[in-house]
Amino acid sequence: MTTRTSSASRQDTRPVATSSSSWIPLLAVVIGLAAAIIILPAWMPNITASLLGADAKFYWYLSRATAFVGYGLLWLSMSMGIMITNKMARVWPGGPTAAALHQHTSLLGLGFGLVHGLLLIGDQYINFNLAQVLTPFSTASYLPQWVGLGQLAFYTWAVVVFSYYIRNQIGCKTWRSIHFASYLVFALTLLHGIFSGTDTGKIWVTGMYWFSGSMILFLTFYRILYSINKARQAAQPE
Ligand code: HEM
Repeated sequence: MTTRTSSASRQDTRPVATSSSSWIPLLAVVIGLAAAIIILPAWMPNITASLLGADAKFYWYLSRATAFVGYGLLWLSMSMGIMITNKMARVWPGGPTAAALHQHTSLLGLGFGLVHGLLLIGDQYINFNLAQVLTPFSTASYLPQWVGLGQLAFYTWAVVVFSYYIRNQIGCKTWRSIHFASYLVFALTLLHGIFSGTDTGKIWVTGMYWFSGSMILFLTFYRILYSINKARQAAQPE
C-alpha cells in the first residue's frame, strides 16, 4: 500500500545532521592523515623521500611537468591566434572554436607557467626563494640568464593576456601592438626551455621543440604572405 507523505513529514524522516555525525568525516580525514604519516614512510620509502626527504624531488618533477603543459598550451594558443589572422582556422578547426581555444589556452598556460615557477621554491637542489622566482635574472644558484628569459616571458605573457580585458579602454590600436608581443613570449619561452631545461637532450623533448617552433614559424610566414597579398589586392584598381 502506498501512502502519500506531505513535504513536512518527508522532511521529518530526513536524517538529521547531529553534531556527532558531522564530526565523522573530519575524524576520518584526521585518522587517514595520521595513518599516512605513520605508515607511508615504512610502506613506500621512495615516495616519502621524494616528497619530504633531504633530497626531495617531488617539486622538481612537478615543476618540469607543469612547464611542459604550460609550453604546450602557449604553443596551442599561438597557433590558434595566427590561424585566425591568416584565415587558416576557417578550414580547421573553425573560427569560433579557434577563438575560444586561443583565449582559454592562453589563460590556462599562464597559470601553469606561474605554478611551474612557484613549485621550484620547494626544490632544495635549485634553492630559489619567492623573491628570486619573481625577479628576472636573479636566480644566482641556477642559470640566471636563461631562467630570466622564462621570467620575462611570464610577465610579458601576463601583459598580453590582461590587455585583452581592457582593450576598450586602451583602444584597438594599442591592444594590437601589445598583442604582437606574444611572438616574443613564444621565442623567449622556447629559448628558456631549451637552455635551462634538464630534459632538452631527450629525443621527445628535442622533437617537441623542433615541431612546435617550426610550426609557429611556418604559420607566421603564411600570415605575412596573406597580409601582403591582401594589401596588394586592396591597392589594385577596381
Ligand atoms: C616565473 C618564471 C619562471 C621561472 C622562475 C622558471 C624557471 C625554470 C627553471 C629553473 C627551469 C629548469 C628546470 C630543470 O629542468 O631543472 C625551467 C625549465 C623550463 N621552463 Fe621555466 N621558468 C619560468 C617561466 C616559464 C614559463 C612561463 C614557461 C612556459 C610555459 C616555462 C617553461 C619551461 C620549460 C618548457 C622548461 C624545460 C623543462 C625541462 O626541460 O625539464 N617556464 N624553468
